[in-house]
Amino acid sequence: MKHCGLSTLLGILSVTRVTSSVKEDSRYWKKLGEDSIKDALREDKNENLAKNVILFVGDGMGLSTIVAGRIFKGQMQGHSGEEGYLSFEKFKHVGLLKTYNVDRQVPDSAGTATALFSGIKGNYYAVGLDATSVYNVCQPNVTKTAGVRTLIDWAIEAGKSTGMVTTTRLTHATPASSYAHCPHRDWECDTKIPETERGKGCKDIASQMVEDEPGRSINVLLGGGEQVFVAGINKTSVCTRGDGKNLPFQWMKWHNSQNRTNAFVKNKAQLMEVPDNINHVLGLFAPSHMPYDKDRDTSVNGEPSLEEMTTKAIQILSKNTKGYVLLVEGGRIDHAHHDNLAKIAMEEVAAFDAAIQKALAMTKRSDTLIVVTADHSHAFTINGYPKRGNPIEGVGDVTPEGFAYETLSYINGPGYNYHRIDSADGINRTSTLKTWKNLNLTENAKGRSVPHMAGFWMDSETHGGEDVPVYASGPMAHLIHGVHEQTHVPYTIAYSLCIGPYFQDCRGPSPKPSSSTVINISVVAVIISTVVSLRLF
Ligand SMILES: *[C@@H]1O[C@H](CO)[C@@H](O)[C@H](O)[C@H]1NC(C)=O
Ligand SMILES: *[C@@H]1O[C@H](CO)[C@@H](O)[C@H](O)[C@H]1NC(C)=O
Ligand SMILES: *[C@@H]1O[C@H](CO)[C@@H](O)[C@H](O)[C@H]1NC(C)=O
Ligand SMILES: *[C@@H]1O[C@H](CO)[C@@H](O)[C@H](O)[C@H]1NC(C)=O
Ligand SMILES: *[C@@H]1O[C@H](CO)[C@@H](O)[C@H](O)[C@H]1NC(C)=O
Ligand SMILES: *[C@@H]1O[C@H](CO)[C@@H](O)[C@H](O)[C@H]1NC(C)=O
Ligand SMILES: [Zn+2]
Repeated sequence: MKHCGLSTLLGILSVTRVTSSVKEDSRYWKKLGEDSIKDALREDKNENLAKNVILFVGDGMGLSTIVAGRIFKGQMQGHSGEEGYLSFEKFKHVGLLKTYNVDRQVPDSAGTATALFSGIKGNYYAVGLDATSVYNVCQPNVTKTAGVRTLIDWAIEAGKSTGMVTTTRLTHATPASSYAHCPHRDWECDTKIPETERGKGCKDIASQMVEDEPGRSINVLLGGGEQVFVAGINKTSVCTRGDGKNLPFQWMKWHNSQNRTNAFVKNKAQLMEVPDNINHVLGLFAPSHMPYDKDRDTSVNGEPSLEEMTTKAIQILSKNTKGYVLLVEGGRIDHAHHDNLAKIAMEEVAAFDAAIQKALAMTKRSDTLIVVTADHSHAFTINGYPKRGNPIEGVGDVTPEGFAYETLSYINGPGYNYHRIDSADGINRTSTLKTWKNLNLTENAKGRSVPHMAGFWMDSETHGGEDVPVYASGPMAHLIHGVHEQTHVPYTIAYSLCIGPYFQDCRGPSPKPSSSTVINISVVAVIISTVVSLRLF
């Protein structure tokens, strides 16, 4: 109701990219409706045994981020945007994942990545450990019993090749949870282990990746973080090594001792030149995280894009006749959100989408399961009543009092100060009447480094706790079908490949689970629910 009265004001303010949508008349929607039913009726139950799996994780890519990213992508291509789709939004099998950590309602990435990669939910900040882990305390006996096995372990056990590609440091919470076991995600270098916990037998994450299984056996490791792997580098605020190790050198030396062909690369040209017959590649393209996609040095001496890294990884991994498991993280959607930089978050979604599109073009639906999801969401929303085609990153609406505000907003974060009239003082409690700046549309719509509105100040915006969507295509994709725990994803992947919990005990010669397995599962389910109800009442 209210917004109707504002139409004149909105008309002045909105820089509408597509002015008319009259072609979307009733005939348009009738055709779309019928086509969509035809498509839905087409059977899509691929029960093949998968050879390969690629799991794409958009860090922090909740549903509002996906929708904003979809509109942003369309607008970059000159369209209105709302009517478009990201590459994975055309997948037929979609579900929702519950992302809480065992000890937190709203999770962090270490706990959620552990759930996504191992099928076991863990605690906040704990990398590759179950809920018996103790926060920030080094207890090797606990690490041993709490340590989880992941998709990487299962794939290696089945003779498959493995890869991890990310835009963050390779030791950051999400990638680390696929190979490391650590009671605090910040233990990326030896100097980050608290002094009280040193010398008790716990290893930093970078050392675990290079010295321990399964990290050192991962075939393709591409991302950032050189500073945490090599002593003597101190270019960014991330931790430095105190033990003098040069882990990439150690990595090459060990692979040579195993007669494994290997290459250590540091820029785009070197990555592109790695011959496909090399079986082990380590790429460290930045001292800390890789730059945001739009900030990359795109020259040959610069950083490869997520799409380029994914392409190279698939080329190297697909040599294995037994197949591969590749994990790809669009890791910096999350970082842009933490700084309330909504436009950069959209750019990162677009770069992530491009990598998925390339992977789809390089693989076959008959033998490769592709799963796209997020580890968790953000405190991020799409609000107001912006006109169709309004620039998604800009001012979307004005209040009845004539106050302009952005479509993309946060409930907390550093954007609070930017939007205060008195921006120097985060909390000016005396300015009760005029608290907020009225945004200048022109200025705001173009500023990718301008933080968006946040309702209260936080140095770093928080995650969000609602479910995240999961999209799947390929063998057994239909097992993604409803509201699931996040741990459903690695089980689906394991089942499609017959690895890990289903190693050599999957579907046998028939593509379906044997009926006795089904009965056994239902018997167990009945027992569990009986026990639960007895306890409850
Ligand atoms: C692990 O070792 C510590 C110290 O030796 C001991 O206090 C603790 O009870 C042990 N925990 C388990 C689960 O064995
Ligand atoms: C790294 O650089 C920072 C900033 O220049 C400095 O404060 C810190 O002491 C340096 N750390 C080491 C280990 O050299
Ligand atoms: C590597 O190759 C060398 C020379 O052929 C051989 O002596 C050695 O045993 C091999 N090492 C491994 C771990 O296979
Ligand atoms: C708070 O805001 C008011 C109104 O904008 C301003 O006059 C005042 O100087 C601010 N207070 C401080 C401490 O800056
Ligand atoms: C918005 O900013 C632009 C560029 O700084 C300026 O030219 C314009 O006058 C401003 N508009 C308003 C309404 O303040
Ligand atoms: C449950 O599974 C076991 C082992 O596979 C099998 O021996 C048993 O017959 C099954 N039970 C039922 C009720 O199907
Ligand atoms: Zn985060």
